[in-house]
Amino acid sequence: MTATERNETNPDRNAAASPPEPGPRALRRLVIFGGLCYAGALAAPAASFVLAPTKSAGSAGARWIRVARLVDLPERVPRRLQIIADRRDAFTLTRDELLGSIWVLRSGDAVRALSAVCPHLGCSIDLAADHQGFACPCHASRFGLDGAAVAGPSPRDLDPLATRLVDGWIEIDFRRYRQGIAERREVPT
Ligand code: FES
Repeated sequence: MTATERNETNPDRNAAASPPEPGPRALRRLVIFGGLCYAGALAAPAASFVLAPTKSAGSAGARWIRVARLVDLPERVPRRLQIIADRRDAFTLTRDELLGSIWVLRSGDAVRALSAVCPHLGCSIDLAADHQGFACPCHASRFGLDGAAVAGPSPRDLDPLATRLVDGWIEIDFRRYRQGIAERREVPT
């Protein structure tokens, strides 16, 4: 008996010699798997849209932005600095966007940073005429150099921002807070 003749008389050996046809169950799995891949591809941009503000606002993690070299800041003289950084949303990256302003005050290697946004209604805080504190031009709120509210309608102190020194550069964890309330509640940057 030849090999061909042996296979014709033994159906099991024929089945082993050729690739199996996919059964109904295998086809169903294939269709479900393909559907999941397609749904995942559609969901990816939506997920990044939801996550992007959290990353850029830094409500969970810090967003450190380099603002100035320590040696360029005079001692105990408040300086206003602009916060410029890239902003990314789900689809676009905007380079060097002006995000806001802050006041910084250096004392040795320590740097205090305060938001320049008035907690009352959001006007831009100026240095007081006597340079002993800060003043809001809109409704006359006044603050000490440490940011403490001392007069006017501001419901809270100026908002402090965390700082750190990296290779001689001052970096700020830039955040924004809701205005008009005593509680310091962060809003997306
Ligand atoms: S906005 Fe500053 S006191 Fe009103």
